Amino acid sequence: MEPLSNTIRVTVPNYLSNLPIPDSVGGWFRLGVRDWASLIPLAAAVGGVTYLTYKAFCPRARPDQKKAAVNPNIKKNVEKVVDMFDLEDIGDKVAFCRCWRSKNFPYCDGSHTPYNRESGDNVGPVCLSRKK
Ligand code: FES
Repeated sequence: MEPLSNTIRVTVPNYLSNLPIPDSVGGWFRLGVRDWASLIPLAAAVGGVTYLTYKAFCPRARPDQKKAAVNPNIKKNVEKVVDMFDLEDIGDKVAFCRCWRSKNFPYCDGSHTPYNRESGDNVGPVCLSRKK
């Protein structure tokens, strides 16, 4: 335990106090090659911790995780949800669901309204009507 304690209490503070951190923006332009080289371990440590934190807390960054599904529960037993309609059978007007929350899928039943309210999304149906 003493090596860890010594590192935290003595080595790291000594290292940080000896870093050539300038007092002004212009001071960064006056740093020499050795100064910049002495900043590399700190930059690598900060970059590494930032990267690991991002990987740990950003769900989409994890390679083992699929992207969020658009379809939460409609016909999940088929590989691809496809609905075919004969234009003659549709009638004068129809509204097809695009939010994937309708209990009457593929037709819109208004479920997009509470879904939009909860999620902050703005999806709605695609409405088709026949010209008269
Ligand atoms: S219920 Fe899905 S778009 Fe209306």
